[in-house]
Amino acid sequence: MNEYIRYLNLPKIPSSLLEDFKTNSQLCPHMTSPFFKTGEHCDEITKWCQQNISADSFYGVQIMDANVSPHKDQANYAGIPESKLVYLVDPGGDSVKTVFWDNNEKFLKYYVIKPFRWHLIQVNVLHSVSGIEPGNKRWAVTTQIFHQENNE
Ligand SMILES: [Fe+2]
Repeated sequence: MNEYIRYLNLPKIPSSLLEDFKTNSQLCPHMTSPFFKTGEHCDEITKWCQQNISADSFYGVQIMDANVSPHKDQANYAGIPESKLVYLVDPGGDSVKTVFWDNNEKFLKYYVIKPFRWHLIQVNVLHSVSGIEPGNKRWAVTTQIFHQENNE
């Protein structure tokens, strides 16, 4: 069976950097959408990730305060992303599911993604997030790893 999530054995982000982000950002109380991405307050996390994960990448934090319906990730400056590298910090609940669907929104597979592990997630397949408990925030450090030519 296809896997849409793959864990990678990459170093863990120091918890002090994650705590600093949480303190400084307050997890973005004025989010403009239920699925919010920010590069603010991420400088130290970015520096650490560029030194320890991949230098040629930009890092940010994504925050969700509600479930997300099936979608494919949007095109960005590097084109339509096939996969993203994610480090989940707070799942937002005990059994939050990341669900994958085919193009007719027929169920394919779900995962309860483990926190404090890097994983690759395929984002050019429809996926949704459900089970975020009210009042909770699910947040993660995220990036795309580009091939060198994309950065020239
Ligand atoms: Fe997505």
